[in-house]
Amino acid sequence: MNLTALRQPGARCLAALVAASVLGLFSPGVFAGSGQEKLQKIRAKWKPGEAMVPEFLTLYPCHEEDQPCGKLPPPAVEKVAFKGPLAGDAARGEKIALDVRWGNCAACHALPGAPGGSVGPSLADYPQRRPPVQYTYQRIWDGRVFNPDAHMPIYGTQGVLTEEEIRDVMAFLYQGKK
Ligand code: HEC
Repeated sequence: MNLTALRQPGARCLAALVAASVLGLFSPGVFAGSGQEKLQKIRAKWKPGEAMVPEFLTLYPCHEEDQPCGKLPPPAVEKVAFKGPLAGDAARGEKIALDVRWGNCAACHALPGAPGGSVGPSLADYPQRRPPVQYTYQRIWDGRVFNPDAHMPIYGTQGVLTEEEIRDVMAFLYQGKK
């Protein structure tokens, strides 16, 4: 159990920022004019797994993780249909799942072949249990479809992970460590 790992502000701030900028919620003072462009430029400088670029943190209106940023309405729930084949890279998926500055699944879940937190159910037996792929995809993309109050990041809808990254994590979950 590792609650400090949950407090990585990077992923959450980025998610909120992406969501907010998509919704056009920034005041002109924060993102004058070409907000999207500016955000994309900063995003391009950030390498998954590395510290958030300082420029990004100064842009964010309230990057103190303990302060309520919360004026932003949550994005609408997204239902997604999985299209096969999975075609994910399990080794990359393992990296994404374990990296505190990337997917950080291990903060809340035990994973196949790797210990992790207990905020969420253990996924250590995923390769044996093999829940339906559509279910897993939706869970990671936007778990609010199953539980509106789920304490799991909304990886797809909020753009925390790309579709490719989600597929990589899924490949790791179903395959386990090789
Ligand atoms: C902040 C904690 C947290 C993080 C981080 C997190 N999860 Fe979860 N996850 C949960 C919780 C809590 C549940 C239980 C579902 C609920 O509340 O409805 C869950 C449920 C799940 C389930 C369904 C489990 C089952 O057996 O049916 C899957 C699959 C899953 N998470 C995968 C992931 C993956 C993959 C990642 C990383 C990309 C991740 N989770 C990151 C908290 C988390």
